[in-house]
Amino acid sequence: MAVRLVILASGRGSNFSAIAEAIRQKKIPGAEIVGLVSNNPEAPALLLAREKGIPTTIIDAKSFGRGKLFDRASYESALIEVVHRLSPDLICLAGYMLLLGESFLKHWPNQIVNIHPSLLPSFRGLRAQKQALDYGVQWTGCTVHWVNEELDGGPIIAQEILEVLPQDDEDSLSTRLLEVEHRTYIKALGMLCSQAYQIDGRRMRWNP
Ligand code: GAR
Repeated sequence: MAVRLVILASGRGSNFSAIAEAIRQKKIPGAEIVGLVSNNPEAPALLLAREKGIPTTIIDAKSFGRGKLFDRASYESALIEVVHRLSPDLICLAGYMLLLGESFLKHWPNQIVNIHPSLLPSFRGLRAQKQALDYGVQWTGCTVHWVNEELDGGPIIAQEILEVLPQDDEDSLSTRLLEVEHRTYIKALGMLCSQAYQIDGRRMRWNP
């Protein structure tokens, strides 16, 4: 039986594209992307998905109010309904820039995966590459992790490192890191889809 992946994306969609291409090349055994859901009607990820024949759904977050008036509960129940219909085994966040609330998380415990452009637990939240540069680290990287109620705080599935070069700025570092992200996400999903695992506290146990 295929491992059903649902992608949540808000923007460009390069991680989504890399995952879709890896599945096409049979590098993520048994996986199938059954849908991409975006909170942003303008997300380039939607076009990429349509080109690949992957069903897309837009739940326009802005139509649920902005800023302090954002009705998170209604947005989230719409999202839960759409994702539920897709019957996911794994939900993959690929540049999904809204926080998932408790109601969503409790529907899919230990089934939601995210990629973050830093070596967690360093530099959580937005513009992690800039945070790393501002801090002056010489090595950074990316992290694929389970999503829990803590921002970028769930147990780690896979990480890779990248050297920060003296001439790096936020753009160059983000671009170089993106390639590493794609590799790491594909590797992590390959492991999750083909190996038995247990989440033991914060540690992954492979083939327990
Ligand atoms: C990626 O760098 C991803 O790690 C980051 O957004 C970018 C999305 O690019 N995600 C976060 O910062 C989440 N905290 P993409 O749309 O081309 O995959």
